[in-house]
Amino acid sequence: MSVVHLNGEYLPADEARISVNDRGFLFGDGVYEVTPAYHGRIFRWGQHLARMRKGLKTVGIDFDAASLEGVNRELLARNGLETVPVACVYVQVTRGIAPRTHAFPDPPVPPSVYGFAKRFDRPAREVWERGFRAITVPDQRWALAEVKAIALLPNCLAQQAAVEAGVRDAIFVRDGIALEGSHNNLFAVFGGVVTTAPLTNYILHGVTRDLMIGLAGEMGLPVEERAIPLRELYRADEVFFTGTTTEVRPAVEVDGRTIGEGKVGAVARGLYDAFLAVTGS
Ligand code: PDD
Repeated sequence: MSVVHLNGEYLPADEARISVNDRGFLFGDGVYEVTPAYHGRIFRWGQHLARMRKGLKTVGIDFDAASLEGVNRELLARNGLETVPVACVYVQVTRGIAPRTHAFPDPPVPPSVYGFAKRFDRPAREVWERGFRAITVPDQRWALAEVKAIALLPNCLAQQAAVEAGVRDAIFVRDGIALEGSHNNLFAVFGGVVTTAPLTNYILHGVTRDLMIGLAGEMGLPVEERAIPLRELYRADEVFFTGTTTEVRPAVEVDGRTIGEGKVGAVARGLYDAFLAVTGS
């Protein structure tokens, strides 16, 4: 039984209870983070914390997210995850418990804090080397996609569409532009140029995306942050996704169309190897 964190307490997951009046339950009114730990070392917490602080500020939840570093550590320790190669820690903060009315509780109520940690198993290398498939879906999300909001129904619908299509990932397309995946950022390679959507309100500002841009630079690969029209994506030499629970995942087919030569490309492979080296996992 995993041990979870709920409002300052650590308890078995099946004993944790939230109120039916929690605004996370009623409205999806909260934000979350998923932070990786490699062999027990929390990776790039500063960036995850900064994103969460920004998200909390944007939606007006008054909570000091700095305290969550200790929660992350405690969850890893209490779940025996300090020695596994990869673990992910999830934390969410909602606006708290109050009778249902759309406007914020006045006076404010204490935010609710929940967290859990679990082991992450990456695919076997031979599976990874075969590559994966993806489909595109219309982006029906709100226009604040840079906030890591717990309200993920459009993302769930997108990922379910991928499952029903028998593929691994779903790509959100808005006004003809391929933006990001249902739970990861999107990269394409055109003539050796590593290309990804710019940091706007239409994508989550991924920590792994940022890491990849850095690694590509170190490898001497040119990087361009620009809009990728879907019609162009189909003609990319390579397509791949990045994220905390995705790491680097190459797509060799999008919407039934073969990408490049239909094989995992050198850029995705090089970045994956660099990622494994830098995370020591
Ligand atoms: N998802 N885009 C979206 C829509 C995401 O949900 C995520 C992460 C990313 C990648 O961000 P990062 O590299 O910081 O993990 C991009 C998390 C892992 C999730 O929802 O489980």
